[in-house]
Amino acid sequence: MNGLMPDLAVARSLQLRPPERRDGAALHDLVAACPPLDLNSRYAYLLLCEHHAQTSVVAESDSELVGAITAYVPPQQPDTLFIWQVAVAERIRGQKLGTRMLQHLLQHCVHAQGLRWVETTISPDNLASHNLFTQFAVRHDAGCTTTTLFAASDFGASGHQAESLYKIGPWDRPA
Ligand SMILES: CC(C)(COP(=O)(O)OP(=O)(O)OC[C@H]1O[C@@H](n2cnc3c(N)ncnc32)[C@H](O)[C@@H]1OP(=O)(O)O)[C@@H](O)C(=O)NCCC(=O)NCCS
Repeated sequence: MNGLMPDLAVARSLQLRPPERRDGAALHDLVAACPPLDLNSRYAYLLLCEHHAQTSVVAESDSELVGAITAYVPPQQPDTLFIWQVAVAERIRGQKLGTRMLQHLLQHCVHAQGLRWVETTISPDNLASHNLFTQFAVRHDAGCTTTTLFAASDFGASGHQAESLYKIGPWDRPA
C-alpha cells in the first residue's frame, strides 16, 4: 500500500498494551515519523502515558514502539472515546495494525467502560485515515456521521487544514 515491502516478521510479533511512562519519548518519536500528524511536545506524550493510559494503546515489537493510538474521554462527553492520534510505523502499514489497535480500544475501553461513541477528527486530504475509520464503522455495522469540528481559520495563520469530526456508534445497541 505504501510502496514498501511489508515487514511480516514485525507484524507477527506485535504486542498491544496500554502505554506506560517509559513509552513517552518513543511515542513522540513515532509521531514525528508519521506525517501529516501534528507533533506535540515530549511533555504532552508523557502526560498521555500518565493520565490516559487506560484509553490509549501502543504496539510493541522487540521493545520497539511501532504503533499507537492516543485517546481520552472528554470531560464534557463522558460517554465518548475521543481518538486524538493514530500512528503506524511506515514499514508495517497496510497490515491491519491500525485496525487491530482500534479493535483493541473497542474491546478494552469502549465496551469495558460502557461508552457509546467513538470520535476522531480527520483532515480532508487524509484518505488513509478516512478509510481506516469508515471501514471500522462498516465492519461493525455502526453509524458514522461527519461534521466540521475545526475550520481552517480556527488554527490562525498556520495554514493548518480544517478538521472534520467523525462520530461512530452508538455501541450499546442490542445485538
Ligand atoms: C492511517 C494509518 C494509521 C493506517 O494504518 P494501517 O495499519 O496501515 O491501516 P490498516 O492496515 O489497518 O488499514 C485499514 C484500512 O485503511 C485504509 N488505508 C490504510 N492505508 C491507506 C492508504 N495509504 N491509502 C488509502 N487507504 C488506506 C484501507 O482501506 C485499509 O483497508 P484495506 O487494507 O482492507 O484496504 C497509517 O497509514 C499512518 O500511520 N499514517 C500516518 C499518520 C496518520 O495519518 N494517522 C491518521 C490520522 S489520526
